Amino acid sequence: MKIIVTKNYEEMSRIAAEQFAEVIKQKPACVLGLATGSTPIGMYEGLIEKYRAGELDFSAVHSVNLDEYYPIAPDNDQSYRYFMNHQLFDHVNIDKANTFVPDGMATDVEAACRAHEDKIDELGGIDLQVLGIGQNGHIGFNEPEENLQCFTHLTGLTESTIKANARFFASEEDVPKHALTMGIQSVFKARKIVILASGKSKAEAIKTMVSGTITTACPASLLALHPDVTLICDEDAYSLV
Ligand code: GLP
Repeated sequence: MKIIVTKNYEEMSRIAAEQFAEVIKQKPACVLGLATGSTPIGMYEGLIEKYRAGELDFSAVHSVNLDEYYPIAPDNDQSYRYFMNHQLFDHVNIDKANTFVPDGMATDVEAACRAHEDKIDELGGIDLQVLGIGQNGHIGFNEPEENLQCFTHLTGLTESTIKANARFFASEEDVPKHALTMGIQSVFKARKIVILASGKSKAEAIKTMVSGTITTACPASLLALHPDVTLICDEDAYSLV
């Protein structure tokens, strides 16, 4: 795993945006694997700036998102579909018909999971996947558990994740208790992965992730098995290593 430690959040975001920009320039019809949460927002801002400066063209880009709460409507301002529209898609020339977020309103959940997985394959796989990391080491919504799922599936959120994500909702009770998420193998199908972390609250998870051992108790630690992963994190997130 390649590790880049940055001075702060801004530098982390700039370097991550450059890596994405590089892929889009080299392959205009690329497939981007996208993530939500507060961490990638600075990177998305960087991409929007580059688009406005005329450096990037998203017209042929496709995107696939890692996860979505369940159940949640796409126009709910806490849904990940809403987040993606507002943080990135509305500000660049991507065709929203080419953007795929798991269906948080699906009545047939199994079919929705299969459809998401099939979409990734149909697009020819993800060229570059961005990941954040939960305080407990989760990636997407693959929470620490004895057994992890390979493919897109419905999962329950742990208490710690519900608490951590409550800051975006009116109250903890409003946080959905379930989500649809790409599985470990869905993530591993990406040709290249960038994982971002910022702040002291991620330091424990980053320490476990780069410890040189793998454990399903820290799903991010499995990334050590992927041939092309770059961790970009700030000094605070790296402070326990
Ligand atoms: C959420 C998302 C993850 C994200 C993580 C960290 O639960 N499902 O994809 O990486 O939490 O979020 P943040 O970047 O806000 O710390």
